[in-house]
Order: sequence, then C-alpha cells, then structure tokens
Amino acid sequence: MSQIKSVLKEDRRFEPSDEFRKLARIGDFETYARMYKESIDDPEGFFGRIADELPWIEPYSKVLDWSDKPYAKWFVDGKINACSVCVDQHASGPRRDKTAILWEGEPGDLRRYSYAELQVEVSRFANALKARGVKKGDRVAIYMPMIPELAFAVLGCARIGAIHSVIFGGFSAHSIRDRVEDGGCSAVITADGGWRRGKVLPLKAVVDEAIAGIDSVHTVFTVRRAENTVPWQDGRDVWMHELLAEVDDDCPPERMDSEDTLFLLYTSGSTGKPKGIRHTTGGYMVGTYLTTRIVFDLREEDVFWCTADVGWITGHSYIIYGPLANGATVCMYEGAPNQPHAGRFWEFVEKHGVSVLYTAPTAIRSFMSWGDEHVTKFDRSSLRLLGTVGEPINPEAWMWYHRTVGEERCPIVDTWWQTETGSILITPLPGAVATKPGCATVPFFGVDALVVDEEGNEVPDGAGGLLAIRKPWPSMLRGIWGDDARYEETYWSKFDGRYYFPGDGARRDEDGYIWIMGRVDDVLNVSGHLLSTMEIESALVSHPSIVEAAVVPRPHELTGEAICAFCTIGPGFQSGDELVAQLKEHVAKEIGKLARPADIRFAEALPKTRSGKIMRRLLRDIAAGREIEGDTTTLEDYSVVARLLGDEKA
Ligand code: PRX
Repeated sequence: MSQIKSVLKEDRRFEPSDEFRKLARIGDFETYARMYKESIDDPEGFFGRIADELPWIEPYSKVLDWSDKPYAKWFVDGKINACSVCVDQHASGPRRDKTAILWEGEPGDLRRYSYAELQVEVSRFANALKARGVKKGDRVAIYMPMIPELAFAVLGCARIGAIHSVIFGGFSAHSIRDRVEDGGCSAVITADGGWRRGKVLPLKAVVDEAIAGIDSVHTVFTVRRAENTVPWQDGRDVWMHELLAEVDDDCPPERMDSEDTLFLLYTSGSTGKPKGIRHTTGGYMVGTYLTTRIVFDLREEDVFWCTADVGWITGHSYIIYGPLANGATVCMYEGAPNQPHAGRFWEFVEKHGVSVLYTAPTAIRSFMSWGDEHVTKFDRSSLRLLGTVGEPINPEAWMWYHRTVGEERCPIVDTWWQTETGSILITPLPGAVATKPGCATVPFFGVDALVVDEEGNEVPDGAGGLLAIRKPWPSMLRGIWGDDARYEETYWSKFDGRYYFPGDGARRDEDGYIWIMGRVDDVLNVSGHLLSTMEIESALVSHPSIVEAAVVPRPHELTGEAICAFCTIGPGFQSGDELVAQLKEHVAKEIGKLARPADIRFAEALPKTRSGKIMRRLLRDIAAGREIEGDTTTLEDYSVVARLLGDEKA
C-alpha cells in the first residue's frame, strides 16, 4: 500500500505541446472522447471501418460475434493473411523501396531490408518450411536471437498458416521443452548462436537438450549467425542457408480465416504450467495496426524502435505485426544495452535517427543508474515520442525519461496491456491526452475499462480496486492452447463471466485516469516479465536439499520486483552461501536466468494458515523489510513468523 499512497500524491501534469498537437493524428481530447464514445456505443461500426483499411482476401460477413461468451469471433468469415498485411501490400506499392527492417547486431554489423526485399526473404523462408513438410495449422517453435531471420521466421510461418510459438532466447532447455510439448510443435527454428554482452549464446545446443526424445519434432531449422560449433542430428537438423539456396522467391500467402490461430505465446500463470495464449488473425491484426498508428502517432517518415525482444508479446505486436502492417520502418537490435558501452542505445538513436522509442521501465531505471552522460553525449533530436510498457513506471523514472531522454520535448505514452490483450488497452494518445508521471491514463478505443471491488461493483473514484474489462476487443486472446477450462477460470470466473479480469489492481482518479497498481495474484513482475511464483517454487523444490519453498516479490530499484525465496531444507543439508549459490544456479538452469532469485532465505518452517496455505502476504512484508500489516489471527504458528523476523534483525 505504501507504494500506492506515494503514487496518489503525484499531481504533475503534462499537456501535449501545440506543436505536437498540430501534426498529431488525434490532436485534442474532445476528438479522443468522441471517438472513444463511438467505439463503445457502436464497436461494430467503429472496428468495421478500421478493418476495412486492411487488405482482406475475402470480406467478413459480421464484425463481432459474442454469442459464445467468453469466446469472441471478430470479422466472421473474413479471409486474410497476416504476412500479406505486413509485407505484400507494401512491397507492391509506393513503399516498395522503403526500409522495412533496419537491424544492428551486437558486434556492430548492420543490415537493412526494403519492403520488396523483405517479401523475398519471407517468401523464401516460407518455402523452406514447406520444403520440410511444415503446413497450415502445424505449430512451429522459434528460439532465436534478435536477428532479421527471427522476423522472417515469424512472418514465414504466418504466410503459410503455420502457428508460431516464439520462445524468448533467454529461456532454459527445460522451459523450451515444456512449451514445445504443450504446443505439440513439429518443427523448431533456431540459430547456431546469438551475441549477448560480447559472448555467444549457444542456442542450438540448448534446443538439442530441450527436445531430446520429443518425437513430434521432425525438423530443426538452424540459421547461421554466430558461427559457433553446434551439435547436429542428421536427418532432423537442417541448415537454413542450405535450404534457402534451393527454394524459390515466390510463395503465395495462405488464405486464412479471420479466426484461424496466428500464434501461441506462453505466459506465466499463478499455478501450473505456463499458459499458451492463443491469438487469432483478423482481430489481432486490426488491434495491432490501429494501436501502432494511433498510440505512436505513426507518420510515414518515422523510424520506429521498440526495444523489446520478439520473444515477448511487445516484440510480436510492436516490432513485427503492428508497425509492418502500417508500412513503417522498424529497428531491431540484437544485443545488450550496455555493450560495448552504456550509451549503446543512444548511439543507435543518433545513428539511425530513431523518432519513436518504445522501451520498458526496467531499462529506463538502468539507464538512470548508469549516469546521464551516456545519454546526453549522443544527439537525440530525432526523437519525437517515447513509450513505456511492462510494469508501472515510477514517477521519478518517468521524469528522468521525460527530461534526460526526451529533453522535455517528447510526449510519453505509458501503455498498459498484456500478452493476453494482444495490443495496448490503456494509454495516453500523445497529441490528445495530458500525461501524469506513472499513470497509464485513459482506455483506448473499444476498451470498456472499470475499477471494481471483489463483487464486481464499481468503486468510487480515488478508491483502489480491481481492473476489469467489460466488452470484447479485437486483439483479445481467444483462449489457452488445449485448456478452455483454464481460460474460463483464469480470466472470466472472477466476475461470473461479466468482465475480463486481467489480474491487476487499479484506481481511477478524479480526471477519470486509470492508475495501474500491479498484480494481485501470485505472479511476479521482474524487469517487465511475468514469472509465476509457483514455477520458481517447483524449481527450488526439485533441488534435493529443499523440502518446501515460498517465493514472493520484494521491491527492487532496477528490476521493479526482485525474487525472494523462503526455503525449508531437508535433513542432512547445510544452509549457507554455498547452498544459496547452488540454488540460484539451479533455478536459472530450470527456468532461465530471469527467474534466478535475488534472495534465498532459509526457514525452519513457513508461515501457514490453519488450512495449510502459505501466507505469502506475511512473507512479502518480511521480504521487503516492512512491518507486518494486517491480520495474523489465521496463522497456524506465530512463532514461525517471529523466527523469520528475528532473522531479519540479526
Ligand atoms: O501487471 C501488468 C504489467 O504487466 C502485466 C502483463 O505482462 P505481460 O503479459 O508479460 O505483458 C507485458 C507487455 C505488454 C500486466 O498485467 N504491465 C504491463 N504494462 C504496464 C503494466 N503495469 C503498469 N503499467 C503498464 N504500462
């Protein structure tokens, strides 16, 4: 609550400049408000008009069918191909020679692809997939570094109607295995390695470990990037460059139904295995196309850089699908932001004339901590708009972004959304909505957002509550792969099917602005990425020394939240630094480095309710070094907490 209170005191307000307004797509609040009302009163009319801007192969018969709640169908019967929307429509028009992708590798290598070139690359990739028997509806896992071939792989799948499942390149073999198995993937696209902090990450070797013994995978396509030595399984593994040399440039795009699955992307749930969030084609394309255009106020000459990895939803929606659907020039960067120096991002901005920059609060806090000089020594006059996503941004970090990066010239769009929502749902429109540091502000078109209590009743302005969304929106998830029951339970059961429940707390202020207050479930947000406490606990318990574990977040100045694990060890094991180091490594190996706990604390027992549930609320307070707040009367054995607190003081 203390964090929420401090946010409440924020009363700075920044109006868009007249200069920005004049050129903006939506240049005043009244226009936003009128369009918003229209989108809520008549979503079919509103989104129908937007959809008509996309190149449909065959028109839809109905904009929205919400009769089978909570499974929405958008643009019913329409036929469309997401790759054509992103590539073909531009490759044959006036944008043919415009740069589509501008890429820089960590070692400094540069590549650029025009829309016409992108069409060739993507078609060849698609043909290579086909040559090995990949077809419409097959699931293809993609585990790659941030190189242009990652975009070709994603778009190549979309072109032939294969469902891509991109797995972030920092995940461990174990995490890949879960995802490949859950999705029933028949092929994997990877690279020999990728560059990160001056070293080569051996991606192909990790894939081999991950899929050992999984019979469903018939092909591992391997792109040559880092030229490191790789393990090889004849028959299964193919070099992409060899295959590409044999295929031709022409690959007609598959005719996809609007509701055909475009991709799966796994996200953490509070319980059980990761959820394969399922997005479909027509609605997702409309949502990403529209938000990119309006939220980033996209102009023809913009150089758009979203710094996320394509392994996360932000990269799917705002490196690939949204910007390319708009015919934009998008940047991609392979490596770490401080390689070889702490000013790498700003050097990139200067060199390529980036005009719109979209990054995460965790990155912003790192830049702040590295010192202003690394930013200010590069020319940032090309920047005109800044964005953030992934977690609530602290007002100090917002102000730093505004002053130091944006030189007080660039509006900031603090965009709230989720893997599940597919595109931005709550955000300022930069020419129309005054911003407040730390606030995601107002709902986007078609988003009927409410702040409600546990029963689903709206709470008065100023009071905290749960964020809820009443109407379907085009880019919403259509379910969890293979698990309808979990979809209904996780997102729709909280309010008896009346609203979508994103799992975030929120507050609406006197101006109607929505402030996001973070997760309310057992999901941690580390560097803008959700991790399930349960999975980290399972990883800890899989170590022979650990009997029971409870994982909670504690505030962290760089990563937003840090992982704090309380563990009970079994007989015969010795607590101490050595075990701490072993456990951290163990979790990193099981899940990935992102999930490595910052703190590991040993306890003789964990605090539990009488019904045996671990009282994480208490552990959260202990982890953060706060006084224990609230009721402890349901605690089974208070001495457990007393001992943990005693530890804290010692
Ligand atoms: O808690 C919210 C937080 O990130 C969650 C979604 O995480 P993920 O599915 O990994 O997608 C992240 C990128 C879209 C949300 O439930 N979150 C995301 N953006 C914001 C945010 N919290 C506050 N403000 C934001 N702008």
